[in-house]
Amino acid sequence: MSRNSHNSGLLQRLAETGRERVSFTLDGESLDALVGDTVLTAVLTHRATLRHTEFSGQARAGFCLMGACQDCWISTESGARLRACSTFVQADMRLLTQAESAS
Ligand code: FES
Repeated sequence: MSRNSHNSGLLQRLAETGRERVSFTLDGESLDALVGDTVLTAVLTHRATLRHTEFSGQARAGFCLMGACQDCWISTESGARLRACSTFVQADMRLLTQAESAS
């Protein structure tokens, strides 16, 4: 059984399940999404949270879902920050739920 066939995420996909699949990694774990998914949707179909806030450690999963609240920042392994609710997932994206700390 494919790891991705089990849905343990916050979101459950109900429609448009026939779109082409793309692979990405999240904290080193290989996952898949559908073309046209936002990063937020791609992550939350597999996980219950997007990240933990750097201030309180509280779990976050986005809030406004339209690019206004700043609640869904996530990082790439190359250090870029992106707003998960307004960025489309791309094949082979390498995402981190916590930014790498500068050393
Ligand atoms: S969820 Fe509000 S900016 Fe992304």
